[in-house]
Amino acid sequence: MTLLHKPVLLVVYASITGATRSWVQSFCHGAADESAVTVRLLQAADVCTEDVVAADAYVFACPETLGSMVGEMKSFFDRTYYPVLDQVNGRPYLLVVCAGSDGEPTVRQMQRILTGWRLKPVAEARLIKTHAQTPEAILASKELDEALLQDAEEAGRAMASALLMGIF
Ligand SMILES: Cc1cc2nc3c(=O)[nH]c(=O)nc-3n(C[C@H](O)[C@H](O)[C@H](O)COP(=O)(O)O)c2cc1C
Repeated sequence: MTLLHKPVLLVVYASITGATRSWVQSFCHGAADESAVTVRLLQAADVCTEDVVAADAYVFACPETLGSMVGEMKSFFDRTYYPVLDQVNGRPYLLVVCAGSDGEPTVRQMQRILTGWRLKPVAEARLIKTHAQTPEAILASKELDEALLQDAEEAGRAMASALLMGIF
């Protein structure tokens, strides 16, 4: 009997005030419709080299803080970048950045790292702006609006089924 490999979609995320968390939760909800794909939602601090190497496709999602990716995500890449190098070439990924008003530096910074891993983007990076400007608004807990959560769910459904069909 042949045992077929069940593809693994690994979602690595960090979130301080909840916006990124709500996006990845909706993404995973959509991806879970494809029961033949294993969807793993993990906080960046809990992800080790083996988790990355064992996955077939990735989502990396985090906020921008002080002009760069949030420290937890940076620390994840610092720990795993060289151990993973050359073991994941060509695998697909989606990048998601939440930001108050900018986010571009974080998108560029993460794209450079993911290009170093020789990963392939499945779509343009999603840059979600929460428009928080004052310290109070920046530190307040956040929910994304329904349209963004629906887009996340649809992205999850599409990525899981494309992975299953071997489209990437
Ligand atoms: C300490 C701190 C620094 C931030 N720095 C930036 C920044 O440099 N550029 C920006 O666009 N947003 C900045 N923000 C806003 C967050 O990126 C934004 O609120 C984002 O939606 C937070 O995502 P989260 O709810 O998943 O933590 C900052 C927020 C915090 C808490």
